[in-house]
Amino acid sequence: MKIFVTGGTGYIGSHTCVELLNAGYEIVVIDNFSNSKPEVIEKIKEITEKDFKFYEGDVCDKELLKKIFTENNIDAVIHFAGYKAVGESVSKPLKYYRNNIDSTLTLLETMNEFNCKKLVFSSSATVYGKPKSLPIKEDFDLSTTNPYGSTKLMIEDILRDLYISDNEWSIAILRYFNPIGAHKSGLIGENPNDIPNNLMPYIVKVANKELECLNVFGNDYDTHDGTGVRDYIHVVDLSLGHIKAIEYILNSKGIDEYNLGTGNGYSVLDLVKTFMKVNDVEVKYKITDRRPGDIDACYADASKAQEILGWKAKLGIEDMCRDAYNFIKKNK
Ligand code: WQD
Repeated sequence: MKIFVTGGTGYIGSHTCVELLNAGYEIVVIDNFSNSKPEVIEKIKEITEKDFKFYEGDVCDKELLKKIFTENNIDAVIHFAGYKAVGESVSKPLKYYRNNIDSTLTLLETMNEFNCKKLVFSSSATVYGKPKSLPIKEDFDLSTTNPYGSTKLMIEDILRDLYISDNEWSIAILRYFNPIGAHKSGLIGENPNDIPNNLMPYIVKVANKELECLNVFGNDYDTHDGTGVRDYIHVVDLSLGHIKAIEYILNSKGIDEYNLGTGNGYSVLDLVKTFMKVNDVEVKYKITDRRPGDIDACYADASKAQEILGWKAKLGIEDMCRDAYNFIKKNK
């Protein structure tokens, strides 16, 4: 079976490529390196001791996609490629709508033309907006508070309309909670080029003395210690969820949404203290104002993915903290 992976050198894409190869799938990867580095290709090959075809380019490039589908007999697609910085999406909405929607429409049109109708889509818990209660279930109301989240919700709606028009499609929409951590080899992980927006990459850079101090965005939220609570999930667990989703869509038709989370919520200070303990390192922090748009708490009811896909997260918060730091130490 041959799987086409868009954005396959990115943080989640690269970890998923490793697990696809480990599971015996052939893969074909496309990436334009807008948020990743070319050396990730060799790292994936080093970890798995397997080869695969790579095409440098943009998913918006219809001619390139047609070339890829002509040269490779693709059985299913995992679509990761897309811009993902919430803050940047607020300041540059047209860049996000053009890139994330256009690339997806180009991909879907090409898949249709080549009669490849099996897709796993990388969505996000951000489509739930501020949940009415916790834990979050897949049938909760959907709403978004930023252009990045709106592109994810729009693409979900496009996919639901596509399935209504043609029941031959088999689509799994995976809603990620907060992916953190890195492959245990330390060869691949999350290493943003600029100042990190997200919590864990910021903690790691403070621990690694690349940044001075972590700003904890508010301690007056309605949580056990006042700081924001999220459902952190190890990126390897998340990647294994994609393998289960691929197995499922290869043997079924239909469209469905699945929460990929652990079901456990941890606060900012929980994460900072766990990180310091497991890595025996100091992380300086100070409490600052809330970040606009942040919600108090968010964590998943992940039972549907377990019941239908046979997937459940196994790694804990200590593994996530240890593996995240191991990666940055090996890639100074
Ligand atoms: C987590 C917690 C912050 C940074 C975002 C996107 C979501 C997904 C994951 C793409 C919050 C606090 C953070 C810092 C802090 N991305 N924080 N200081 O906002 O839950 O989700 O990333 O799919 O779509 O919305 O993740 O890591 O930014 O924040 O105190 O320097 O850490 O307030 O409580 P978030 P995050």
